[in-house]
Amino acid sequence: MKIAIGSDHAGYRLKLAVIRHLIDRRLDFVDVGCNSTDSCDYPQYAIAVAEQVARGDCDLGLLFCGTGIGMSMAANKVKGIRAAACSDTFSARATREHNNANILCMGERVVGEGLAVMLVEAFLNAEFQGGKHQRRIDQFMALENQE
Ligand code: RB5
Repeated sequence: MKIAIGSDHAGYRLKLAVIRHLIDRRLDFVDVGCNSTDSCDYPQYAIAVAEQVARGDCDLGLLFCGTGIGMSMAANKVKGIRAAACSDTFSARATREHNNANILCMGERVVGEGLAVMLVEAFLNAEFQGGKHQRRIDQFMALENQE
């Protein structure tokens, strides 16, 4: 499994903590930036991660900003992306099981490092359940193909 990971300045430190965890877990990842706590705009990093996942270059994505919300809004504009901002482990697991989310977004101003690692583990270890959940996903993903 290969993971695309990105942040803005407000999520940079939390991203580094999660990267340390991914290295410990020997998980393959690509970091699209940013590379410091200098102020920057989150959409470019959300879109960069989303495009890696949408193209199939990476299987899943992780995004970090102050709240996780701006990253999720921006990533969800990329066709094929289902990004979820989560701050509890139940949701991080359920969004893969039920929504087949392919990007998890987290907020450094919302969750601590320990919880972020637990959210990532819940997300990575969960499996999409298909069936009625696929039917429901199809109902809203169809909007992407309308002109
Ligand atoms: C940056 O101040 C902050 O607005 C951004 O990281 C994010 O939380 C937006 O949703």
